Amino acid sequence: MTSSIPSNHVPGPLKPDALQAPGAPRIPLMSARSLVKTFTVGRTWKPGSGRTLHAVDGISLDVFPAETLGLVGESGSGKSTLGRCLTRLYDIDGGTLSFEGADITAAQTRALKPVRRKVQMIFQDPSASLNPRRRVRDVLAEVLKVHRIREGAGIEERLGELMDLVGLRREYLDRYPHEFSGGQRQRIGIARALAVEPTLIVADEPVSALDVSVQAQIVNLFSDLREKLDLTYVFIAHDLAVVRQVSTRVAVMYLGSIVETGETDALYARPSHPYTQALLSAIPQPHNRGRRERILLSGEIPSPLNPPSGCKFSTRCPQAQEICRQVRPALAPISTERQVACHFPLA
Ligand SMILES: Nc1ncnc2c1ncn2[C@@H]1O[C@H](COP(=O)(O)OP(=O)(O)O)[C@@H](O)[C@H]1O
Ligand SMILES: [Mg+2]
Repeated sequence: MTSSIPSNHVPGPLKPDALQAPGAPRIPLMSARSLVKTFTVGRTWKPGSGRTLHAVDGISLDVFPAETLGLVGESGSGKSTLGRCLTRLYDIDGGTLSFEGADITAAQTRALKPVRRKVQMIFQDPSASLNPRRRVRDVLAEVLKVHRIREGAGIEERLGELMDLVGLRREYLDRYPHEFSGGQRQRIGIARALAVEPTLIVADEPVSALDVSVQAQIVNLFSDLREKLDLTYVFIAHDLAVVRQVSTRVAVMYLGSIVETGETDALYARPSHPYTQALLSAIPQPHNRGRRERILLSGEIPSPLNPPSGCKFSTRCPQAQEICRQVRPALAPISTERQVACHFPLA
């Protein structure tokens, strides 16, 4: 009997997908169900004063291993708040959140420690997390020590590896944050997140503050790192072109809710929700092919303090009917790859 596997075959690291039989349902790395995050605004000394703002208003979402889930939506739609809930930088006010099958909705300190290590967040402005008086070496070494990732000489070796990973020269370890350009600083922000060897990275507008040419380099770095390190990303951006470039799947947010999710190319080619259609109609098409008529939305995005009844988009939707103003549509599948929260989705 001959085996097709040579006797000296050394199995490589198991990819997340390799754990599942073909056709088996994919097991999410992270799952949110009816997630809620509220803020109280305008509170004064008067008891009971202040109003409740639903920044994340009952979001259900799965993040699958090795995917890049793009999160898009206008400013104020709740993307950052959702990102901070997923990484548990925020406490959660309602619903549930699980990571690798464990419920982490209410996890605190001890239970949160492994999550802090495996789930990392990258921000638009890395300077906020880089102390200007500390060299890159000290910033990164501290992370390694706190999480006991390396000791002694292993620390120096890992610092070098991290710089290689993000495409910075090892000599730069001895520089201070202000000695770097915006793109280089973001690379350091990425190295800092990678230091703890995370599996999931939530990146909140990580290229929005950079020049377009630098954006492309950092976007490429994210893609390279995903392949090299088997990372999973939630990539938040208001720029639809950037999201298209990096994401395998996209979720579109409006006023604290997800209105549509789908596989990137299919969603960009055929958006189902009128809001997605309007958003996409505003971006220039690469080749004149498939050029869309620009859909202009009437009115301003409503205040999340006082969202419209029924479908929150009904006040601006060109297709709204009576039912839209009365009944809030749930996010529901319209095909295997597409979920839409609309009474009249484009099939
Ligand atoms: N710390 C906070 N306190 C009060 N309101 C907040 C706070 N953070 C966010 N919000 C409000 O929550 C909503 C969603 O904000 P955010 O998550 O920052 O949206 P996005 O990242 O999509 O621009 C906005 O109306 C914003 O004003
Ligand atoms: Mg934001």
